Amino acid sequence: MIKISINGTVHDVEVEQDTPLLWVLRDVLGMTGTKFGCGVAQCGACTVHVDGTPVRSCQLAVGDVGDMPVVTIEGIGATPAGAKVQKAWMDLQVAQCGYCQSGQIMAAAALLTQTPAPTDADIDAAMAGNICRCGTYVRIRDGVKRAASQA
Ligand code: FES
Ligand code: FES
Repeated sequence: MIKISINGTVHDVEVEQDTPLLWVLRDVLGMTGTKFGCGVAQCGACTVHVDGTPVRSCQLAVGDVGDMPVVTIEGIGATPAGAKVQKAWMDLQVAQCGYCQSGQIMAAAALLTQTPAPTDADIDAAMAGNICRCGTYVRIRDGVKRAASQA
């Protein structure tokens, strides 16, 4: 049995220590907002925050999370940066098919928490690992800027 804190709630999950966090979220806890894309840390669809840092949950063993709090797309709207990002995404209709967008939002929220007024270079660096098959990159950048401008 492993204890894990997700979006402020502690869950007991009966899984092997080396089970990827993404599997625990989706298959054990039914939190399907975090997406499976590549499974090999290359696309960013599975991005969650662990102790405030964006991580690829497909490549993080649940046993390595320990006491660190996990925040997912289901909980990011309760954070100041997450709320701004989600509003900006809605205002600008950033998503196309939407598959990559939970990961994009998690990456953007982490950026704005660390760097409230990012430059274009900051945005490009923070978002570079999040792939969008629909090519919504221009709207993603606009969304980050709009969220940053909401004091
Ligand atoms: S599914 Fe984890 S990075 Fe692609
Ligand atoms: S919106 Fe379709 S993959 Fe990004």
